[in-house]
Amino acid sequence: MNADETNLSDVAEQSRKSCHVSVMPAEVVQWLEPVAGGVVFDGTFGGGGHSVLLARAASEHGGRVLAVDRDPAAADVGLATIAGLPIDLFCGSYHQVDRILKAAEVEALDGVVLDLGLSSDQLEDRSRGFSFNGDGPLDLRFDPTRGRSAKEFLAQATEKEIADAIYQFGEERLSRRIAKQIVMRRQERKPVKTVAELVDICRRCVPRSKGHDIHPATRTFQALRILVNEELAILESALKVLPSRMRPGGRIAIISFHSLEDRIVKNAFRDDERLEPLMRKPLRPSDEEVAVNPRSRSAKMRVAVIRRLVP
Ligand SMILES: C[S@@+](CC[C@H](N)C(=O)[O-])C[C@H]1O[C@@H](n2cnc3c(N)ncnc32)[C@H](O)[C@@H]1O
Repeated sequence: MNADETNLSDVAEQSRKSCHVSVMPAEVVQWLEPVAGGVVFDGTFGGGGHSVLLARAASEHGGRVLAVDRDPAAADVGLATIAGLPIDLFCGSYHQVDRILKAAEVEALDGVVLDLGLSSDQLEDRSRGFSFNGDGPLDLRFDPTRGRSAKEFLAQATEKEIADAIYQFGEERLSRRIAKQIVMRRQERKPVKTVAELVDICRRCVPRSKGHDIHPATRTFQALRILVNEELAILESALKVLPSRMRPGGRIAIISFHSLEDRIVKNAFRDDERLEPLMRKPLRPSDEEVAVNPRSRSAKMRVAVIRRLVP
């Protein structure tokens, strides 16, 4: 997969600034409690907001942040942001933490933050296909250099596979209707290749219902994004490995944006004997934060501490 362990801090020249506004920034620093000389792993660097705050807090005590993002474009926007701070930025997936620890010559972590989903930089970039309020190629990969794009999946999968994916990862009740239209277009030699073509199908298949004001394409795009990036499998795999790479007393904070992810985190924190959840209900952003950053409205943050297991 996707970790070539290039320390991006050592590479290339810097360009743009991120437009991403970090979610629950104060809460992340408060709950992770960066310790003296500690190492924090930011598994979803994005625009670097959390990394920078954690590095500032950790650097007072000689600590550092190892940050990783699966999207090579995050490096472009990230390098200026981390200049002068004790942050090592890598390209790869957070579940490949071992490869990153090895590359950074770090033995164990004192804190971990995962802020799941996509960044505003990715959403704004029409060439990625994440936003259905525009047009562009239907890609939806966090790392467009690897794996299968959404367009390729829709060109190759059976009608049942498409319907199942949209139902399972998007919880879209009308998944069969949407899959049927997608396959019909293929049979007419007009396969779905762009955002606008898929949005058009969703609009025709999903009626806007009363009191239900999400866009008709929301669930379908969410499903395809989760599928092509294997987001849930990667989260599950990371939750198995990360606690073993952390020191007792270290904390792990995960911010999720939909119920499928939150369920995985909640169950892992509850069932894994290496972890002690620090809250029963997830933390939510304040009304003030939601007013300033509406993207934060569906965020849920859970934090657990690494238990000291007696052998
Ligand atoms: C919500 S943004 C993170 C924003 C960041 N916390 C900040 O404050 O700017 C999520 C980021 O996680 C990245 N991402 C998603 N899955 C990943 C994975 N498996 N490994 C590493 N990065 C991933 C995405 O590419 C995206 O840049």
